[in-house]
Amino acid sequence: MLRFYRFIFCATLLSIGSADDAKLNNKKFPKNFLFGASTSAFQIEGAWNLDGKTESTCDKTFNKQPSIVIDGSDATVACDSYHKYKEDVAILRELGVDHYRFSLAWTRILPTGYANEINEAGVKYYKNLIRELKINQIQPIVTLYHYDLPQSLQDKGGFSNPLFPEWFANYSRVCFELFGDDVSYWLTINEPYPICSMGSLSGPFVEGIDTYICALRYLTAHAAIWHVYDTEFRSKQKGRVAMVLNGEWAEPASNTTDDITAAETRMQFMWGIFAHPLYYGDWPEIMKTRIAMRSKLEGFNQSRLPEMTQEEINYIKGTNDFFALNSYTTVLVKAIQEPEISSPNSTKDIGVFAYQRDDWLSSSASWLKFVPWGMRKLLKWIKDEYYNPNIIITENGWADSTDQLDDKVRESYIKEYLSNIRDAMDEDEVNVMAYSVWSLMDNFEWVSGYTAKFGITYVDFNSPNRTRTRKNSSYYYEKVCKTHCLVEKCED
Ligand code: NOJ
Repeated sequence: MLRFYRFIFCATLLSIGSADDAKLNNKKFPKNFLFGASTSAFQIEGAWNLDGKTESTCDKTFNKQPSIVIDGSDATVACDSYHKYKEDVAILRELGVDHYRFSLAWTRILPTGYANEINEAGVKYYKNLIRELKINQIQPIVTLYHYDLPQSLQDKGGFSNPLFPEWFANYSRVCFELFGDDVSYWLTINEPYPICSMGSLSGPFVEGIDTYICALRYLTAHAAIWHVYDTEFRSKQKGRVAMVLNGEWAEPASNTTDDITAAETRMQFMWGIFAHPLYYGDWPEIMKTRIAMRSKLEGFNQSRLPEMTQEEINYIKGTNDFFALNSYTTVLVKAIQEPEISSPNSTKDIGVFAYQRDDWLSSSASWLKFVPWGMRKLLKWIKDEYYNPNIIITENGWADSTDQLDDKVRESYIKEYLSNIRDAMDEDEVNVMAYSVWSLMDNFEWVSGYTAKFGITYVDFNSPNRTRTRKNSSYYYEKVCKTHCLVEKCED
């Protein structure tokens, strides 16, 4: 029996691994389309306490209590990119990418968290990295904040401190001054949704209450950064600024009106919580209605969703210069009875049932299943919902857990997701400008440590050299970056 299952599994892998070229989009990506790769500071740099860098919330959570990490590992060395950035850039150059998306570690640049003291060694590291990229004609796409808040600011309450947006504005001003002449695309905050729905790095946190207060604070912090750029730097530096939003495509489980409405509700709660204020200036209507209704039944005298003032609405609206999106997978959504009223809970606020099919191929990350068609639908939905924005896909990729360099499934994933992206551009007229694979290399995957490998480059974490070796998928991706074509021969 076991052998039978193994056979089916391998057959599935093989059929996915050798994705039939005839089914792929065979039109070239436009000449100005940007292909790139992504990483983040904490996940690759290491050197967590070197050269003046101070502690971030990530250091405190993962480096000081590795017991929360599946393999008991930490990110004190990670890929050692602090010392090996030239090797990273050499790989990017071999790949022929147009851009590299990486993040700045706030506490490497501002050791106190505040803008009163600048750490020259930290600045030099990022200047060197950017210079190396420029020499190799690779443009930097820079994330200001990828989960790693200075612990000093967390100790002051983190997002619950009203000064939170000001800290972000001051930090970002320093970054624009230091690096802005070389950066055309800035990403303010990476994935506020998981930050605000779990609060895992943010100290005391009441799910379902702080979730929404956190969302408003992060939106305000993002807007503060955008306004700094807009008023002080844009005319000279001519760059663009966006928040990085993440989520899945929610496919109705059936074509009944109830399931269709349930799926749309989930889209509004997951994407709309940030995107709606950015594009329309307030929370989505369905969030307002549902959270107010449940809050009342739970005994609150006002909605757990904070009401935005007109001033907040005006401050936040229109502050996304492009749509930066991280997306990996799809869920199916079914309508259900109103969830029981108990303690506040943001999943119950959505009030639907989301699941994935067992026969969708699963990666080594349980949430990540291989559903390429969902990407096309997601892109079309974003186009229709948010005034046809320019879209930069800032993350998309596949996790496995092996040391194998022959990563067939990852290659197919990249191929089929890109094919659906090209379909969306071609047939649905979605303005996708760029694609960034997550990740340039295997790295520290949060609580999964080094067990979930997302890299198109293998990193030997047992070697003090953190030797990098390209996986097969990277050779396929190189071909795509260089030819802008997904198949053997493209039509035009
Ligand atoms: C989301 C995050 O931005 C990144 O840090 C993480 O490693 C990947 N997706 C994969 O889970």
